[in-house]
Amino acid sequence: MFKINEEYLKLPGSYLFSTIAKKVAAFSEENPEAKIIRLGIGDVTQQLATAIIDALHKAVDEMGAAETFRGYAPDLGYEFLRNAIAENDYKARGCEIAADEIFISDGAKCDSGNIQEIFSKDNKIAVCDPVYPVYVDTNVMAGRTGTYDPERETWSDVIYMPCTKETNFAPSLPKETPDLIYLCFPNNPTGSTITKSQLQEWVDYANKNGCVIIYDAAYEAYISEADVPHSVYECEGARTCAIELRSFSKNAGFTGVRLGFTVIPKELKAGSVSLHSLWARRHGTKYNGAPYIVQRAGEAVYSEAGKAQLKEQVAYYMRNAAYIKNGLKDAGYEVSGGVNAPYIWLKAPGGMTSWEFFDDLLRRAHVVGTPGSGFGPSGETYFRLTAFGSYENTVEAIDRIKAL
Ligand SMILES: Cc1ncc(COP(=O)(O)O)c(C=O)c1O
Repeated sequence: MFKINEEYLKLPGSYLFSTIAKKVAAFSEENPEAKIIRLGIGDVTQQLATAIIDALHKAVDEMGAAETFRGYAPDLGYEFLRNAIAENDYKARGCEIAADEIFISDGAKCDSGNIQEIFSKDNKIAVCDPVYPVYVDTNVMAGRTGTYDPERETWSDVIYMPCTKETNFAPSLPKETPDLIYLCFPNNPTGSTITKSQLQEWVDYANKNGCVIIYDAAYEAYISEADVPHSVYECEGARTCAIELRSFSKNAGFTGVRLGFTVIPKELKAGSVSLHSLWARRHGTKYNGAPYIVQRAGEAVYSEAGKAQLKEQVAYYMRNAAYIKNGLKDAGYEVSGGVNAPYIWLKAPGGMTSWEFFDDLLRRAHVVGTPGSGFGPSGETYFRLTAFGSYENTVEAIDRIKAL
């Protein structure tokens, strides 16, 4: 008789966004006339830039002729894309990353979930609280997190690093030494960032204590302040302790197109074994590559036209972020984020819990956001709004909230 992976049964409740979707569907059914504005899920809304559309069309045509047709992609991804990434995302920022240290994938969700596979089950993870849920849930599935405490909503074998108002929503070095440290900056959900010197402290800590930092930089394109690092490899010593995850979803609108990459420097080793070789083995065995046409679209992100158009797209969303942040501030809300990230983190007013505020906002303003408690215990009484809506919807949503 077959047995299932019982670790899956430990996962609590349904996924945050399905709970939200169910609540919104129920409200819509009862109030069919309500025009609901969704500023909850972190999905983009603007069309792909023309430089990307042109590259897609061209690549599709190539696939239609035998001479230019492509089948399976190389294991690590096409060199044209890896070279463009190495040149633009790393060399241009003074980071030493070679094209063959970059692994192309279909996005950062899979990579951030799969990366734990190359580490022993005995490793202890440290995560920010609140946190992007994928890091913890995939470690639960792997049996690395111990037992769940439904009261505290925490796992016995996970080190939580509270990111609160008192810490500017940044984590402090943990008291207990972890093996794997998940960091995400600019942060989802809080929109917070850390400076280069703060990140350097983490890199020094990791090198000193034999930890690996898994650095999720999915929102790097939204950084506007000079002292905020775009890559962990801007820090000295990161090549021996850090893996970086990147996505084309938020900088180029690829949430439905799918493209991302993971960087593992060759110096990152456990004894004589390089993590690069383990991930290469995994990638080659379990993954058959992002589509050629999508990798060509990714290359176009780094063209002159692509860069200019995407700068405008990011500016469009950041104009929304400023409208949300300033509008809520004017209305007396306690808000943060929204400067180097497309997320605004606000305190639920009047002592409400995150879900109470969710219900209140849906009922009275017909606006959907994300309850902060869904990202971890320290998110309770907070709420996340995203800047990824259209400008018109964003303005209307915030004006409705201000009028409450
Ligand atoms: C922190 C973080 N990492 C990764 C992802 C997933 O990115 P992708 O669309 O590339 O899978 C998201 C998506 O919202 C995210 O917020």
